[in-house]
Amino acid sequence: MNRPVFAANWKMNNGPTLAREFMKAFIDQFPRQNDRTIVFFPPALSLATVATALGERRDVWLGVQNVHWKDQGAFTGEVSVPIARDAGARVILVGHSERRHVFGETDDETALKCAAVERGGLTPMLCVGEKIEERDAGQAESVVVRQLRTGLSHMTQLATKDIMIAYEPVWAIGTGRTATPADAAAMHGVIRRELASICGDRGRVTPILYGGSVNPGNAKTLLAAADVDGLLVGGASLDASSWLAIVRS
Ligand code: PGA
Repeated sequence: MNRPVFAANWKMNNGPTLAREFMKAFIDQFPRQNDRTIVFFPPALSLATVATALGERRDVWLGVQNVHWKDQGAFTGEVSVPIARDAGARVILVGHSERRHVFGETDDETALKCAAVERGGLTPMLCVGEKIEERDAGQAESVVVRQLRTGLSHMTQLATKDIMIAYEPVWAIGTGRTATPADAAAMHGVIRRELASICGDRGRVTPILYGGSVNPGNAKTLLAAADVDGLLVGGASLDASSWLAIVRS
């Protein structure tokens, strides 16, 4: 397995007050580790709080949950890559299932966003994953491959730049229903093969995270599955003790 990545996606939870409390508990109980990467995706307004709490902890990365593909301009309510970078972000989540299926984000928009992240010198974490009806219709692989290929299609330095992929089957997100380690390994194998053909050698070391109802009870088994290099965690990352149990897996 590549160096594991544990990413907390707080979604629309943990404003600055709760974020401060959470980070205090986390930092107190999680000393610097050199064998794993931890990423926090707080809501944008809590990024500064988390950055301040982290201080010199370079082993923990900060990210934002979504960006616009333009660098600046009249886009009320949006955050750009340069703004995210200025605030301390190193990773940008792109195409999360809720962006796609609640807010109607298209594959083409994920491509523009990944390109903007590359241009800004940050790392995109592109999320892919099929809906239950697509899985039932035998289309899971083709959907994931399409999302992956289109999402990366405008990036120009894939052979040299860091990217991360998160496979999150939509039917497993927030539902308590997790993919089996075998399901995860099968799809991660497909993604790994695609990455090798898109990015060359670099595709072999690109972290592929699994996400969808990960909790302290299933984290270890999922991480042990072939080609699962990390975990993207929503609900179970909101409680400091369950998140600590997961990052110690
Ligand atoms: P969940 O969310 O862990 O609550 O299923 C994962 C995600 O949406 O990234």
